[in-house]
Amino acid sequence: MTIISPLKREKKGVSVKILITGGAGYIGSHLVKQLGEESDHEITVLDNLSTGFRDSVLYGEFIQADLSDFDKIDKIVKEGNFDAVIHFAASLVVPESVTDPLKYYLNNTANTANLIRSCIKHKVNRFIFSSTAAVYGEKKGEEIKVKENDYLSPLNPYGMSKLMSETILKDAAKAHKDFKFVILRYFNVAGAAIDGKIGQKTKDSTVLIKVCAETAAGKRDRMYIFGNDYPTPDGTCIRDYIHVEDLCYAHTKALEYLNEGGESDVFNCGYGRGYSVKEVVDTMKRVSGNDFEVRIKERRAGDPSAVIANANKIRNVLGWNPRYNDLDLICKTAYEWEMKNALAMSA
Ligand SMILES: NC(=O)c1ccc[n+]([C@@H]2O[C@H](COP(=O)([O-])OP(=O)(O)OC[C@H]3O[C@@H](n4cnc5c(N)ncnc54)[C@H](O)[C@@H]3O)[C@@H](O)[C@H]2O)c1
Repeated sequence: MTIISPLKREKKGVSVKILITGGAGYIGSHLVKQLGEESDHEITVLDNLSTGFRDSVLYGEFIQADLSDFDKIDKIVKEGNFDAVIHFAASLVVPESVTDPLKYYLNNTANTANLIRSCIKHKVNRFIFSSTAAVYGEKKGEEIKVKENDYLSPLNPYGMSKLMSETILKDAAKAHKDFKFVILRYFNVAGAAIDGKIGQKTKDSTVLIKVCAETAAGKRDRMYIFGNDYPTPDGTCIRDYIHVEDLCYAHTKALEYLNEGGESDVFNCGYGRGYSVKEVVDTMKRVSGNDFEVRIKERRAGDPSAVIANANKIRNVLGWNPRYNDLDLICKTAYEWEMKNALAMSA
């Protein structure tokens, strides 16, 4: 594995005023850090701290507010004089979305519709939306990688709640010509800041690399693989894992694109390479040096067997050039972050 020193890109482009919803969460806090270090943008973070953490927000102004408080949100958007909104705030536990779908349609779809309405009303005309590969569902046919214009058929309410928000954005942009959006469909986001300052703090996480890292760090006694009878080479699900810092950089490129007058569009954010659950577990065991216990359980509802991005469009149109496309590095940063947290808790 190559050790890469933290990348500091040259500050570039205009400085704009950005509202970042969900900026205290895992991905949002990494974007705030990246923008704080590598841009002159003025940042305001809005978060209800339901799954986020105040101390993960290293830059900008912080407002604690809930997106369901429509009057308050409208006032914040009106008075903030923002040029752009980057909308991360959402609920995102797939199994929970199956048992409690209304939570997902309210928080992810209704609250997003309201935020878009306020943006249009107050002429905040650049909107970057966190969508997900879960909008694709199960890929049919020979070509396993999904393209932005492929058939969309979410397998769970989480994916559907995001697809509905995408539709709202598209319809709103058709009706309001000045309003432009970029939808970024994230594949599986993982890892921690390369300099180790922040990482994923999500409680009771269900995402694979976080769970592997916690188990390797001794925070869990064992971990589970949900299903080993999928139609994949080793029987476990295949996903496209993207390092959180590369994903954040996609937002910087999307913002540049909108600032330069780019048209509304949708982009996959992945590396275009899939790894099975077993391969990820083996990688985590190797980089951590901990042969932790893994048990097999039955499949979970709503998990497609393989989801891999065709990531050509974001490279070609936005000029996105990822730096950390390396599963060892992703696992290592995730593991080291867990160890650092474990040490901090025992100190
Ligand atoms: N983590 C992934 O692998 C992944 C993959 C695809 C898409 N996404 C999307 O990326 C975005 C960020 O995900 P994350 O992993 O950082 O999750 P996260 O839970 O760490 O962050 C979400 C943030 O939004 C805040 N929030 C939630 N509901 C809110 C509300 N009603 N009002 C105000 N704040 C609210 C939470 O407190 C939290 O800080 C989400 O939209 C998610 O759907 C994530």
